[in-house]
Amino acid sequence: MKKQVLLSLVVLFALVLVSCAPAAAPAEEAPVAEAPAEEAPAEAAAPTFDGEIKVANLSPLSGPVPTFGESTTNGFNFAVDEWNAKGGVLGMKIVPVVEDSQCTADPAVNAANKVIDQDGVKYIVGEVCSSASIPISQIAEEKHVVQISPTSTNANVTLNVDGSTKKYVFRACFIDPFQGLVMAKFATDQGFKKAFIMADQGNDYVRGLAEQFEKHFVSFGGEVVGKENYTGTDTDFSAILTKVADSGAEVLWLPDYYNVINLVAAQAKEKGVTAVMMGGDGWDSADLDLAAADGGFYSNHYSPTDTRPIVVDWVAKYKAKFGAEPDALATLAYDATNILLASIEKAGKDDPTAVAAAMEGLSYEAVSGKVTFDAQHNPIKSAVVLQVKDGAINFIASVAP
Ligand code: PHE
Repeated sequence: MKKQVLLSLVVLFALVLVSCAPAAAPAEEAPVAEAPAEEAPAEAAAPTFDGEIKVANLSPLSGPVPTFGESTTNGFNFAVDEWNAKGGVLGMKIVPVVEDSQCTADPAVNAANKVIDQDGVKYIVGEVCSSASIPISQIAEEKHVVQISPTSTNANVTLNVDGSTKKYVFRACFIDPFQGLVMAKFATDQGFKKAFIMADQGNDYVRGLAEQFEKHFVSFGGEVVGKENYTGTDTDFSAILTKVADSGAEVLWLPDYYNVINLVAAQAKEKGVTAVMMGGDGWDSADLDLAAADGGFYSNHYSPTDTRPIVVDWVAKYKAKFGAEPDALATLAYDATNILLASIEKAGKDDPTAVAAAMEGLSYEAVSGKVTFDAQHNPIKSAVVLQVKDGAINFIASVAP
């Protein structure tokens, strides 16, 4: 596609979105909680604390997607350090309890039980991956422990099997029904009518996002010309990719994590697949193979090029500490931890039931956007569409719900 055509499509897409955006929020707004103050200067007296409060960070530090855990832990620690520097929460020192939950159900269950039963944790930030967050949420709900997942997008994280909302479980990100809609609309607006879908049915995130894209793409008049499943341990996708190349697909929908995208994208180029690769937030990683994924588009939670002062400030202070731009995982872990601590402060006591109730009514100005929770404990937030191009990740559009 010629650059100019692409550009005008992008502009058109943005205009359509603006015109589709719902009317402004109702006039009555809850007071917005303050972001934590800048870290105190070194010469300031160290704050004194009255007791301690433990907060767990469950994230995949090892396993298939370690950059997710590393970024999440950076964002989590950043928030904890800022709060402790200004006196902790309710006068108590925040003590992080970090466990590696590996993006996988069994280690996640073990990690959750360990921090709750052995360490006495009543508040959990985590997990990243929906397949790990869903089993943790069942434990949190049963044991009355507040859980906020920074980045798990599968709708079932906050829902019981009967569709009711889990009282103690929240998230800081949008959900896959929205993310699937955004990308199906984007693909349609690019003029693409034929899609091929690849999915790992054993992964809650991948399976859910595959379904959501299909549903919306078809509703916009698109056709799914092929669907193939693989498993999380597969490394050779050549048989599937031969089918993709022969299918006439214009879009190859790949809603998986970066480790799988790197393999599929490299093999797709070898097989001469011309369909444009598209996916969701799972592509977000410092280890995404930019050469293999070149030309691909994905949705994500925020863009570091956003010019809102809160984003500019966050990107600068994160860069100063870690020497790299914060990805969505780091940013949402920072946001989720701040939302949790602000809710504890709002509740006025170290009591998970009171904290969950406080979080329900919270309005918080987070880096990734203003957060208020709907009846299913999901924040209503915008998504961004990004493109991998010439070794860089470029902002294409922001999409409001
Ligand atoms: N949304 C993914 C999931 O639910 C996790 C993820 C979020 C990965 C953001 C990368 C970036 O499993």
